[in-house]
Amino acid sequence: MTTYRARVLAPVSSSEVRWLNDAVVVVDGGRFVEVAAFDGRDVDEDLRPAVVVPGFVDSHVHFPQTRIVGAATGPLLEWLAKSTFPEEQRFADPAFAAQIATVFCDRLVQAGTTLAMVYGSVHPAACEALYAEVERRGLRVIAGPVLMDRDCPDALKFPAEQAIPALRDLVERWHGRDGRIEVAVVPRFALSTSMALMTAGGELAREHGLWVTTHLSENPIECQVACDMYGTADYLEVYEQAGLLHERSVYAHCIHLSDAEWDRFAAAGAVVAHCPDSNFFLGSGNMPTGKVRERGIPLALGTDIAAGRSFRVPRIASSAYDNGLWTGLTLDPRELLWWATAGGAAALGHPELGKLEVGGEADFVTVDVPEWAETEDEALGWVLFDHDARCTGTWVRGQRL
Ligand code: GUN
Ligand code: ZN
Repeated sequence: MTTYRARVLAPVSSSEVRWLNDAVVVVDGGRFVEVAAFDGRDVDEDLRPAVVVPGFVDSHVHFPQTRIVGAATGPLLEWLAKSTFPEEQRFADPAFAAQIATVFCDRLVQAGTTLAMVYGSVHPAACEALYAEVERRGLRVIAGPVLMDRDCPDALKFPAEQAIPALRDLVERWHGRDGRIEVAVVPRFALSTSMALMTAGGELAREHGLWVTTHLSENPIECQVACDMYGTADYLEVYEQAGLLHERSVYAHCIHLSDAEWDRFAAAGAVVAHCPDSNFFLGSGNMPTGKVRERGIPLALGTDIAAGRSFRVPRIASSAYDNGLWTGLTLDPRELLWWATAGGAAALGHPELGKLEVGGEADFVTVDVPEWAETEDEALGWVLFDHDARCTGTWVRGQRL
């Protein structure tokens, strides 16, 4: 059992937080056993003035793009061709992948991210290197190799006859490992994944109850190409035809959808991975947050490294606030914290994480907040909007990583 004295900021719902300027946090057996006002007892460690918040949830991050943060070669299709595809080809070398997996996990831990939905390269061995490093470090991921077989460099084309058995093998060996690793089906996007490969991936996901994730409606030219390529009336229809739109699917970006697409998206119970910093950096546009909230669509925040420029989910929450303003919406910081933690975790199938509740698994981080920030609003402001705030510690199941 470990007893901490700290300041605590915990989401309760999308509109309510619990703020304790002086608290005890007791962790035992990897779970919170007490989170309460400080009562003068002896503690093992005094973490103040840092603020304890739940571990952050990143719903969209690319492992093989760890080394290309800041490549200013957008918009999307140019950035993929000039910066992304050349880098991802390097992950054919498992030793290189293992080396970058270490850096990637370092960056997650430093950012205070405890659960991430991760895109690999096409290479199953590279993804395996990631799983191994994640297991060694004690993080949580939902991750898979991207599925690609068309309109990309030949070295990155991996046809269904090879990709699906390789993915099945990863599922058998890694899915559910220690309750912290889930294998996902990740068709990269309609432009570089054929209908046959998307459909086969969707079937494998259904067979094993896996998450599916892909990119949707990020860039206007991408949207046009997708509709022309598949002869559909809109972009979402491509994924509907492939059997990829359902309540275990997470779609990144979702910027240029029509109201009809939003209605079908909501009816299917799919999840939005909102990646505002990436959307700004590639000039992709503004995700209409209001349309998501009106329809009660689950939303989680995504860094989208490396089109996004920071591994820090609070930095993305700050961009989500700015994006909201640009779409006529002033978001409550409580809702941003919710998306960054418990709401994001629930959207990714983990309603038990992200709340600092007694009985819950002890995933938490400390954020460097100045001691003069003493009220709930001040604490929220510093945690979410101070771009210089460091995460000074990251714990998963009570273990400091
Ligand atoms: N669309 C297809 N692939 C990618 C990617 O790697 N990043 C982003 N932002 N969009 C994509
Ligand atoms: Zn992405």
